[in-house]
Order: sequence, then C-alpha cells, then structure tokens
Amino acid sequence: TKENNGDFHFPKSTTNNGTSKRRRQRTEQNDSTKLLLALLAGAGGAFLLAIVVLMSRLEAEHGGGGISGGLAGLQPQGAAGVDDQIYLEEVAQGHASPALMLHGAKNDRQSNLINAIERLKGGYKARLGQFQKLAGIRGDSLKDNPMNKIVKEAVDNLDAMEGALEGEGEMPKKLDIKQDFLNMLNSEKGKNTHESMADRFDKNKGAAETADSKQPPHLYPRFPPLPPHLMAVQEFGEQIITDTLNNKPTIAGIIAILQTFLSHIHAMEVEKKSATAHQVIDAYFSIIDKDLVPFERAYRGRPIFPIREDSSIFMSLGAYRDHLLGETLRQAFKNAKHPERLFVGAVVQNCFGIDVQCRTGVEVKGKDEHGNPITAVSDRPPDVNGIEQFCTDPEYSKYCDSGQIRALYVNETESNGPTTARYFASKLWGGETYFLQADAHLRFAPEWDRQYEEEVKAAKSYPKSVLSSYPPGFSEGDPPYKGGSKGTRLCTCEFSTSDVEHKIIRINTGNNCRGEEEHPTQIAYIAAGFFFARAEFLVDVPFDPFLPWCFMGEEIALSLRAWTHGWDIYAPRKNLIAHQYRPGRMGLPKFWENTGRVFGRPGPGFNTELQTITLQRIKHMVGYEEATPTNLENHGNSIVLTDYEHYGPGEARTMDAFLEHTRIDVKQFKCGYIDWCNECTLE
Ligand SMILES: *[C@@H]1O[C@H](CO)[C@@H](O)[C@H](O)[C@H]1NC(C)=O
Repeated sequence: TKENNGDFHFPKSTTNNGTSKRRRQRTEQNDSTKLLLALLAGAGGAFLLAIVVLMSRLEAEHGGGGISGGLAGLQPQGAAGVDDQIYLEEVAQGHASPALMLHGAKNDRQSNLINAIERLKGGYKARLGQFQKLAGIRGDSLKDNPMNKIVKEAVDNLDAMEGALEGEGEMPKKLDIKQDFLNMLNSEKGKNTHESMADRFDKNKGAAETADSKQPPHLYPRFPPLPPHLMAVQEFGEQIITDTLNNKPTIAGIIAILQTFLSHIHAMEVEKKSATAHQVIDAYFSIIDKDLVPFERAYRGRPIFPIREDSSIFMSLGAYRDHLLGETLRQAFKNAKHPERLFVGAVVQNCFGIDVQCRTGVEVKGKDEHGNPITAVSDRPPDVNGIEQFCTDPEYSKYCDSGQIRALYVNETESNGPTTARYFASKLWGGETYFLQADAHLRFAPEWDRQYEEEVKAAKSYPKSVLSSYPPGFSEGDPPYKGGSKGTRLCTCEFSTSDVEHKIIRINTGNNCRGEEEHPTQIAYIAAGFFFARAEFLVDVPFDPFLPWCFMGEEIALSLRAWTHGWDIYAPRKNLIAHQYRPGRMGLPKFWENTGRVFGRPGPGFNTELQTITLQRIKHMVGYEEATPTNLENHGNSIVLTDYEHYGPGEARTMDAFLEHTRIDVKQFKCGYIDWCNECTLE
C-alpha cells in the first residue's frame, strides 16, 4: 500500500475533534425506511428504481392502504439531507441573512457549500433522468413525471440558497422534500397512477430479466449497483444466501452474505464502543466465523464460478471515500480496447451521512508560532458516490445496465482498512478470465487491457504469472495518460522504523531495466495497488478476511503467499497505468481516524492498538520471532492464527526458499540486495 510512501505520518495532535452537536442519534429503523432516508439524504442512487421498489414493498407490508402508514412512522430527524444541513449551518452561523453576507468575500466554507449545492442539484437532476428511464416515461413528457415538480422545486430552492450565499436575496424558506415526496405518493395513490407506474416498472424489469437470462446463470438475478444500501436479501429473499452456500452461487447471494456480515459488525461496534482492543478483535473474529467462514468453506480450493475463457477482465477496486472513483471507472472503460469485456467489483466505503455527521481528514490550517502545523478535523457533506457519477453518465450508463458494474456499499463506520475492502472486492468476481486489483485513483493508457493480457502471457511462467508494479504518479491537471515509460520494479524492502508499524516489512522499487527485454523479467514483490493475473490466483491465494485494521503488511503477505503457491511475479515492461500519490499533507480522510471515532477514542491511537494485534498474523507468516505460536500465546494473541492454514504460505515452495529468494533476514530485520531483480536477469 503506497499512498503514503515515504510520507507516512500519523498526525501528532488534532484540534476540534470533539463530538459534533449535530451528530444524529442512532435510531432503529426498518430497512425500507433506511433506504428512503438514504435517498432523501442525498446519498445518491437510481432514485426511482428504489422508489418504485419501495412503493411495492411498502404496499406488500401494509396491504393496499399502507403507503402513507408505512411512511408515517419515519423518524423525521433521520432525514436531514445535505440541503437541510447547509441550511442549518447557515442559520447557526448567522449567514442566513443576506445583510451579513454582503461584505464577506467568499471564504472556503462558503465555496464548499456552494460546491455541495451544485453537486446536489446535479444529483437531483440525474435522479429525475433515472426516474424517467426506469418508469418508462419517454421523450418530452417531462410534465407527466410526478417527480418533476419536486425536483424542480428543490433545484429552485437550491438556486436561491446559492444566491443567498453569494449575497443576493434571502435565504429561502426551508423545503421539506420528504413531505413533498409523501404528498406526491399520496396523490399518486389517490389517482391510482402509482399502479400504472409500478406496472411500467415491472415491464422494464421484465425486459431486463429476459436479457439477463441469456447471461451465465450466476450473474442472475442481477444485483443493481444503485442505489446504495439496497439490501440483497430484501430484493431477492434469504434463499439466495442458502443457494450460494449450497453450490448455486450468485453474485447477489454473495453480496447478501457480505451485507449480513457488515450489519453484524455495525451492531457490534455500537455494543463494544468502550471495549478493549482484544475484546473488539474477539467479537470481530467471531462474526467472521459465523457469517463468512461457511461461505469460505463452501468454495475452498476451487473457483466460486467456472472461469470463462473469453479474455474478460475483472477489476477489483477498494475505494475509501475516494473522490476519483467515478473518474477512474470512466478512464478504465474509455481506454479499454474491449470495454465490453471489462467487469468491475467496487467496494465503496463512503460516509453517506445517514445517522452520522461526516468529517474531513486531518487538514492543515496554518502554522503556530513555532512553525508547527495547526491541524483540524471539521464537518463536511456526505461523500460523492463514484458509482453514481459513472452510472448516470450517458456515455457509460450502458455498462451499468449490462451488469458489468458490481458494487458493495460499506458505511464508513464499518470500514477498517484496505485488506478488508480488498477481501470484499475479490468476492465480486464472477468467473472472468483475469483478476486485476487496483486502487480507485488511477488513469489508464490506451488499450491497457489488451496490452496487459499480452504481457502476462509473454511471461515465461504463464499461466502462473502475476504482473505488478508501483505505477508512476499523475496530478489532476495532467493531460491524458499515454503510458509506455519503462516499468517500475518492486525489488527492495525495508523493515519499517515507524513507531506505529512495529518493524513490519515495507516493499519498494529498485532499478529499472533497459526496457528492451525479450520477455518480462521477475521481481520480488506484489503491490496491492496494482496487480494482474489469471483468475486461478484467487483459488490459490484467496483473500484473507482476518486482517482488519492493517495498513502496511498486506503486500509482503500477498507476495510470499503467491510465490510459495508457485506463482512468479513479473514487472510489466511498460507502464500502462498512472496513480495519484497522496501524501499526508493532502488532508484526505483515513480509515484509522474513522476507527477512532467509531470507538469513541478520536485520533489514530485505537486503530494502532488493534493493528498491533492483527499484524501479528502477518509477522507469524514471515517468521518474526515475536510471533511464534508460543510468543503469541504468552501475549494473549493466539486468536490471530484463526483459520491460518487457509491463508498462509503455500506448499509449492518453502518459506525458507522465499526468504532466500528475496534476501530477507527476519532475525536481523534486514533486507539485502536482490541481484536477479535489480539486474533483470530472471525470466
Ligand atoms: C449503515 O449505516 C446505517 C446508518 O447508521 C445503518 O442503518 C445501516 O444498517 C448500516 N449498514 C449496515 C450494512 O450495517
């Protein structure tokens, strides 16, 4: 994991990280309500699909007359959307009066609010489009669209808010979108037109089903990537889980299993808010045991789906509050030679703003008198949903309609680092020929897909060859990425000297080759942020669910597991992707800050405590003295060896051979010079 390569510091102190007075209380709500709240809260999504689904669900739950009854039980405070929030903030700050705004030049906060308003307007309009499409409303008949009025009013209202923020006119009276929506449903009901809407929806769904039934059976029923928070079990019933555990796997069933796990983690975090690190890990591991292990066991040693030989590529993306996810998807499809063969499994760990106040990362606000940075964490609107950006873009929505985008949404509160996100994303694989794992902030060179396929096949060890590298960097203003520079090579490592990383091995780049080699040559390590291999990799080196809260360490584990299972690692001769490197000073949010908030201990400290324990699993794998079974037991850490036999080194090659191959001396904490890697001599 290289985001902070060479620039990895936990913040020393943060100010203003106390509890926000606006933080919502957790409330018990049924899932339909949550779905609706998510929509109203501006969390995004294929708005109407959800409304129609919701309408029919509510009707089923409450009999014919139940829509208003079902909605009447909503907790009003839960529906505070971005627009409510903007309004309240403005009132609280006394900005709601235009007189106060006249002299103030636009400050950052104001322009942030205006940006949020712009996003919200875009979101509403996109939903209106989705609504039209899904409800089968065609062409110009916009006036027939019952949502049109609500959206128009909301947008006008936002326009007026924007005006007021810029000093023109009054802050408008607050609009209650939820009430409008309720009224709309009721009047639709009065007119009985909601039935015809539902009919139209059924017709569309019917058409999609016919198209789907031509797909490989496991891709059906298809789980739509929007809206967020759609619960697979509610859509398709518990049976999809049972089927998936009994040799009839579906992606929808897998998503249902992962969602069940996440909701249990959610409840555990509430219950264990004040628990010790060991108690939290015990609870977490026992939820894995209950919810994930039966699924893991059902497909051990074989692929979950038959592997298709059609040169399809599955791209696994673990995204944490990533503002570049949508753009990364666009770039990948736009530059692919065969976009129709590209499939994505995205794990979107976002702050959705449901029941929680979203917070920024640790941002540098200035310097104190000694020249040290002054940092702060502040409130912010919910994150943009990259899947929504991509799927509502007319140029790309077809890939969402065709089922090429699979998404699992994870509340930020349940996110616990890259290893877990990548475990989830790997499970969204649906039988594609190749597995590609990447970061969610990348750019792609033209025909990158064809070139990687050729490259992985050109490696002597194919089919057991893995391509990997730390890609070159890009900045947001750069021209389109062309690729073609000499491939970087992962040929060095070091034992971390950072306090919080406890001497874990970090991998790094070494020499470049001339770039004219006849075949790709081997390197020592796999980078988690980019690798490409045949999908059999997932059978030999299944992702490990037992590594929550880890940051560094996943790459050495991945490398040693792959190699000892008989896979050889190669650097692509040319770079075909570029990566946005993100030093700490960018102030982006980090998962360890979330861990601190969730467990009521703001700052990175509690995550470090948890990581110190779970990292022992990787240290045990590498052979650190401190992590022998006896030492683990003496420190009460034996739990980290749970199911270790399935996620440790392989049997094709020994660990001693790996340490020799990579010149790692784990007794002396030293990484030696790897001649064959730096000199490009091993094909
Ligand atoms: C995500 O968070 C919301 C709000 O707290 C909660 O209602 C929902 O159950 C969470 N999702 C899962 C899968 O636990």
